[in-house]
Amino acid sequence: MPTLFSPLSFAGLTLRNRVAMPPMWSGKATAEGLVTPAIIEYHRVRAAAGTALIIVEHAFVHLQGRHSSTQIGVHDDACVEGLSKLAAAIRAEGSVACLQISHAGARASSRVTGLPVVAPSAVATTREANPDAPAEMSRAGIDEAVDAFAGAAARARTAGFSAVEIHAAHGFLLSQFLSPLTNRRADEYGGDHERRSRLHLTVLAAARQRAGKDFPVFVRLGMHDERPGGLTLSPACWTASQLVAGGAALIDVSGGLAGSDDPGRGPGYFVGYAEALKGVVDVPVLVAGGIADPRMADLIVRSRRADIVGIGRAMLEDPDWTRTAAAALGQA
Ligand SMILES: Cc1cc2nc3c(=O)[nH]c(=O)nc-3n(C[C@H](O)[C@H](O)[C@H](O)COP(=O)(O)O)c2cc1C
Repeated sequence: MPTLFSPLSFAGLTLRNRVAMPPMWSGKATAEGLVTPAIIEYHRVRAAAGTALIIVEHAFVHLQGRHSSTQIGVHDDACVEGLSKLAAAIRAEGSVACLQISHAGARASSRVTGLPVVAPSAVATTREANPDAPAEMSRAGIDEAVDAFAGAAARARTAGFSAVEIHAAHGFLLSQFLSPLTNRRADEYGGDHERRSRLHLTVLAAARQRAGKDFPVFVRLGMHDERPGGLTLSPACWTASQLVAGGAALIDVSGGLAGSDDPGRGPGYFVGYAEALKGVVDVPVLVAGGIADPRMADLIVRSRRADIVGIGRAMLEDPDWTRTAAAALGQA
């Protein structure tokens, strides 16, 4: 029976245990989107505590998809030097370094990007007080976004990351495409659920093509919009199965069209989605969301409801969470 501190090997990667730091924006990048020493230290200390997988905070793939002026970028070759130092620092602590790559779509702001805000359809869905009404993305705009994700994956590999994670949750661009609430397109990227999943599969294929088929690509998938009329679990599981068929190496379960907040179900609020997905896919399933107690994290793995547990805010509060958990579980 696997435990929180059993190693896990998949897709050419070996994790020393099942604890992950999920991507968490630190607000410490330069105005140009470059990595700073503070960002390196923020991730390094959590790796040094024994955390097996560090998924670095979301990095924008295209300026138009930049979420905040303190977000790191991976949109340009100029970003590679700083990202290389970050990946090296994580690796030196024995952790697997993954970079989350993202496009904010309607959750971007022209005040930050200097560019119009674009989304699958002209539907505002942000929780930020965003004065910009999004415009529908053109076909050329979609192609540009796909190309940007592919370029970002290749840059991450060049920088020394061992994997990338495509951000397809929390009402960011891909999540907007999957949701019936925000995708009202009439072309092949909209319509029924299968067509709303097309961009996910296109981005995954392009990223694998550009970075190399042996480079693991994870997907953080919003499994439920938590809104009336929005995406629900069963179609999201179908999308996940298609992503795995398309070569995704891991599915990171999340949810919420406007963020990953507790939908009112208490600690481990997305574990039920992970458990459902485990019945559908044969790649590792990671889950985060309100998990802070080491015994709960251990039980999630032991009961095979998920393979890897993400510890977000609890690890922000205690960078040593993994070491403390190992001691509490008698694994130190
Ligand atoms: C400060 C902060 C920044 C976050 N940044 C990101 C991000 O960059 N990408 C992402 O997918 N999720 C982000 N999240 C969501 C977390 O990865 C995680 O899913 C969420 O906090 C729930 O897990 P937790 O209860 O263990 O914190 C962020 C959360 C916090 C608190």
